[in-house]
Amino acid sequence: MIAVVLVGGEGTRLRPLTYTTPKPMLPIANRPFLEHQVEHLRSHGVDRIVLACGYKPDAIRAHFGDELDYVVEPEPLGTGGAIAFAAREAAIDETFVACNGDVLTDLDLTGLVAFHRDRGARMTIALHPVDDPSRYGVVATDGDGAVTAFIEKPPPGSTPVRTINAGTYVAEPGVLDLVPPGRSVSVEYDVFPQLVGEGLCALADEGAWIDIGTPASYLAANLERMPPGGLVDPTAVVDPKAVVEGSVIGPGCRIEAGAHVHGSVVLAGALVPAGVTMDNLVVGRTGESVW
Ligand code: GDD
Ligand code: MG
Repeated sequence: MIAVVLVGGEGTRLRPLTYTTPKPMLPIANRPFLEHQVEHLRSHGVDRIVLACGYKPDAIRAHFGDELDYVVEPEPLGTGGAIAFAAREAAIDETFVACNGDVLTDLDLTGLVAFHRDRGARMTIALHPVDDPSRYGVVATDGDGAVTAFIEKPPPGSTPVRTINAGTYVAEPGVLDLVPPGRSVSVEYDVFPQLVGEGLCALADEGAWIDIGTPASYLAANLERMPPGGLVDPTAVVDPKAVVEGSVIGPGCRIEAGAHVHGSVVLAGALVPAGVTMDNLVVGRTGESVW
């Protein structure tokens, strides 16, 4: 099975971290996010991963090398345009997986592919339940899993539906015909609405799921993936008179005497000076970030 992973976005909500590091390379529990995603895809039988790149592809390529395939857009083509551009460049002519490159999940991809085939769908969306869907794409389905409505980022309170697009799809290569080449096309705004009633299906998944794309969810993803109690990289130096609890401390960090670090992420090379208290924060090196 082939997967196209969208990694071309600028990660604007994670600035200033993403000024220097593209979102897929930001660490989650001291490993680049994309390593977690690649591992998940491989565990479901994905044996070829094509990255649809745009913003800062070199950092991604330098890390993964020949392990992955890379397609770099000449200009941002939007989510639909990027999937189609990558699929065409990679000559995909079979059922394939496409996913957003910023979702940390253990969703049942094997089950999603089986459901897609069983329904004879043209495209199938994995769904995840949330309390406030306004940040996401909202998906309504009938009892058989056919999508009856797809609304991207509805105004808060405007819909009772709580199932959202989890950012993982199974697609037939024929859907690429809906995406004209050479211009920006959104899969959420342009393609899904066209496919409603025309072979678009969706399946709810109960698995863990988090979009790492905002400061709060980036922090939450780190805390979810760290071992119980916390994670301190062996190259970090924590003064015996510092208190570090339930936090992720990256390589080369220094936590000075009297510092208190709780439920936070300290990114590679950062210094937490003597006497500073951090609660539910993310910090990077000077000039990089403080939330
Ligand atoms: N190659 C490429 N080119 N990738 C892109 C482009 C582009 O022009 N634009 C966005 N991406 C990538 C981003 O890097 C990210 O991995 C993914 O596409 C989704 O973009 P986001 O900007 O993170 O979208 P979102 O989080 O607001 O909403 C999307 O994800 C939600 C789930 O987390 C939508 O798909 C929603 O419907 C969905 O609910
Ligand atoms: Mg996102």
